[in-house]
Amino acid sequence: MNATNGAGVCPMTGKGAALEQMSLIDPEISARPKAYYDAMREADPVHYDEKLHMYLISRFEDIQTIQRDPITYSVKHGYEAQYSAGFFDEFKEILERDGGGYFPDAIMSDPPYHTHIRGLMDRAFTAHRVRELEPLITSIIVDVIDKLPATGPVDIVKAFSVPITIRVICEQLGVDQYNADKLSRWSQAVTAQIGRMQNREQMIENAKELCDLQHFLIGHIRDREANPKEDMISDLVHAKIEGSDETKLTFKEIVSLVRALMIAGNDTTATAMTNLFYILATQPKVAEILMNAADDDRLMSRFTEELLRIEPPVRGLSRMTTKEVELGGKTLPAHAHLLLMYASANDQEEVFGCPRDFDMERSNLGRHVSFGGGPHKCIGISLARLEIRIAAREVAKRLKNIKLEIPVGEIPYLKSVATHSIESLPISYTKI
Ligand code: HEM
Repeated sequence: MNATNGAGVCPMTGKGAALEQMSLIDPEISARPKAYYDAMREADPVHYDEKLHMYLISRFEDIQTIQRDPITYSVKHGYEAQYSAGFFDEFKEILERDGGGYFPDAIMSDPPYHTHIRGLMDRAFTAHRVRELEPLITSIIVDVIDKLPATGPVDIVKAFSVPITIRVICEQLGVDQYNADKLSRWSQAVTAQIGRMQNREQMIENAKELCDLQHFLIGHIRDREANPKEDMISDLVHAKIEGSDETKLTFKEIVSLVRALMIAGNDTTATAMTNLFYILATQPKVAEILMNAADDDRLMSRFTEELLRIEPPVRGLSRMTTKEVELGGKTLPAHAHLLLMYASANDQEEVFGCPRDFDMERSNLGRHVSFGGGPHKCIGISLARLEIRIAAREVAKRLKNIKLEIPVGEIPYLKSVATHSIESLPISYTKI
């Protein structure tokens, strides 16, 4: 039986609660939000969350409408309003004073500027063809598994998920000397800026981490200006306007894009890897199928998609309306701040029958919105999918008896409305 949260409301089911009494910012709901999603989709799919001061968009079709219209629903304005909410001026001042500058996120922009930036980023990404990375990623994952202690328990986040994703992205960017703990802290400090749940002290701590990160990246960028290499940082630094010596990106843009590539894929992919263990430890039937099919590529891909659908690492990202608009039967004013609840769309019964069943054979597996959609759809999709598929395969080949060492209800989640990330996951296993 679940304890109530003091307001006579069960945090797991939400039953007994009026929607107005709930908020995504409440720690209990934030950690286990599915009942809140249910309540919103049913009663108020474009719901104003009073504590968050945002409209939560919970239905699949409304999210799709928004993604198809990046002019009415601006990423730039949504992101700016969300960034370091409440402390932006102070945050910016710290970065300008101690972090080498304030570098606004060039990719978090609207067309036509976004189209230009996205084209250059896509080029840097495809130049380092993702499919060819399979042997490298496999060797990184096998190495990390080999270094795990014989049985556990270990915290899978620290021992598995974070080191793998950091090594992969650093290889791609061409960063060979790094401190994995620092990189992990830097990722969380950046992600916290859109999480809406940091207080002022945490903002100051996070800003200091960001200053460090920026100096680290600026060092690498300056180095590639003088010594180009075969890596993504060099590709971005030396992207040229055709037939001219002029570089296409400004220094500010380059810093922001390298930072985006380094950070956007870290926490997200690491969370998916942790969720892999969470599912194997809590869903014995799924674990059995997976363990008996390590060489079945089709099944590994289907597992990856269903994992991303049922436990999306990014649960909600923001937009802002640029004019009055009708959405989901409601009239939204201009400058309404929205949170697209990707996790809720993935959980919608009419789109994904029995959405809480982990079903690798559903006919519309790839329809989930865990990578967003439209012009802002995730740039790292193929890399993320590849990493997760290889991780699933190598875990199935090399580990068995995967068990969670704490009750499910005690799993700690990072405080954020944007992501849904397990903070630490103690797991035991036997090596095969
Ligand atoms: C499981 C892992 C991942 C998940 C769940 C994920 C999720 C997302 C989502 C939902 C968006 C859409 C943003 C929006 O709607 O505003 C996005 C965008 C983005 N992602 Fe990912 N991502 C993952 C991995 C990666 C990786 C590995 C990279 C790069 C190394 C990356 C880089 C980006 C970038 C740069 C954008 C911005 C694209 C744009 O606005 O044009 N992501 N991601």
